[in-house]
Amino acid sequence: MNRVYIKTYGCQMNERDSEAVAGMLNDRGYVIVNSEEIADIVLLNTCSIRDQSEQKAIGKAGQLLKHKGNKSQFLLGILGCMAQNRGQALLDSLPDLDLIVGTQKFHHTPDHLDALISSLDQKVSDVPLPIVDLDEEPDSQNTIRHHDPTNGRVSTFVSIMQGCDMNCSFCIVPKTRGAERSRPMEQIVDEIHSIVDNGTREVTLLGQIVTSYGKREYPTLRGKTPFVQLLEKIHEIQGLHRIRFTSPHPLGFRKDLITAFHEMPKLGEYAHLPVQSGSNQMLKAMNRPYSRERYLKLIDSLRAVSPNMHFSTDIIVGFPGETEDDFRQTKSLFKRVGFDMAFIFKYSERTGTMAAEKSDQVSREIKDSRNQELLRILEGHSLQRNRSLVGSIQEILVEGPARKGEGMLMGRTRGYRKVVFPGPPSMIGELINIHIKEATVTVLKGVPAVSHSTAQGTASTLVNLT
Ligand code: SAH
Ligand code: F3S
Repeated sequence: MNRVYIKTYGCQMNERDSEAVAGMLNDRGYVIVNSEEIADIVLLNTCSIRDQSEQKAIGKAGQLLKHKGNKSQFLLGILGCMAQNRGQALLDSLPDLDLIVGTQKFHHTPDHLDALISSLDQKVSDVPLPIVDLDEEPDSQNTIRHHDPTNGRVSTFVSIMQGCDMNCSFCIVPKTRGAERSRPMEQIVDEIHSIVDNGTREVTLLGQIVTSYGKREYPTLRGKTPFVQLLEKIHEIQGLHRIRFTSPHPLGFRKDLITAFHEMPKLGEYAHLPVQSGSNQMLKAMNRPYSRERYLKLIDSLRAVSPNMHFSTDIIVGFPGETEDDFRQTKSLFKRVGFDMAFIFKYSERTGTMAAEKSDQVSREIKDSRNQELLRILEGHSLQRNRSLVGSIQEILVEGPARKGEGMLMGRTRGYRKVVFPGPPSMIGELINIHIKEATVTVLKGVPAVSHSTAQGTASTLVNLT
């Protein structure tokens, strides 16, 4: 009764939480398996961002419970955002659930499973079932720090803060993740030192709103926000090649962070900058405190300090009251920025948010067609940008074997474009120059180039690996 399968829905933050829970369970003697078929315990780490995300997990839970039938030796838990959002009410549709764990309680999962198992063993339980653990917990942001020291992953997520104090009118996250709480800088820096010792070469700093990092805990020093101070400290870590972060808020992208893209080479030439809409009217209704002009100015400022910047974004189509004209504004912003990548969401009504109260909801057909239209524009941009890289030499951080093709490796450019190329496993974790030969919408293909010194400095030539 110790094989656990964890299925994760949603964002990178959720993936990171699941990873930390897996690590804690492993330390406690549980075995993490990669299929529900061979598991004694299934934990669904859930997402509430859209109704569809919740329905997927509820459907899965229902199916697992049906399977469970009268098999007494099986446990099912729901963790994370939907647990927090729906709480006890989950039991109305899923009365046989064994465990419900909120977003500030992940680290109690091993204790809860121990208790559930011992109650199964004893037949007569002294633990009230199911276990429901949803309260706020001080310092819970400091509990997601466990990494598996044996996995030697090149690119690793590091959670730096939790929660969000913004109040975007469509968003359930402030309810599911609570108020902003940041981890101490030294703790984050120590954690990154130790994962770098174990082979990590790139970190992605995670939080709902990373640009607010440390706002309450640390002062701004010499015009530098605590987030930029943290970046500076991480930038000094020897052996770490790259630093990424997600999600920032456009409002938090001030001069210090823009300058950081000029001064800190490890940041590369990429930023994810959620815009949500290109219409000022919609931005106002969404309670996003910036205008399209300000957002575009930010993009220009970043391109001014780092001309090859690549951008990705989050967009919502079909927010209540979104007219054709509003959508036209979004399309024009989309074209003007030329995003390499975007998460395009169809607005989903979330009970308890301000936008859900609005009467002028947009029909599903319109959302679908706006979604399709943006996807087409995006595809065009991605392809165009990728094609513009054909013939160039790009510095790639090699992440590991490519999913397809024997002897093929996968890595990313400084602008976060995916590249596939032939090479030996010894390249994994290294920065390698790749000569780009082909481009599709999502992937670049190339071959390694070798550097040699010339009278003019360093030049690259092609190595023929075939
Ligand atoms: N903290 C991030 C985003 C967190 S949620 C930020 O600063 O924007 C991730 C994305 O989900 C959001 O950026 C938004 O585009 C989308 N999203 C959130 N609530 C949504 C809803 N009710 N319907 C559709 N998309 C939503
Ligand atoms: Fe959600 Fe807005 Fe925060 S999108 S996570 S409330 S910045």
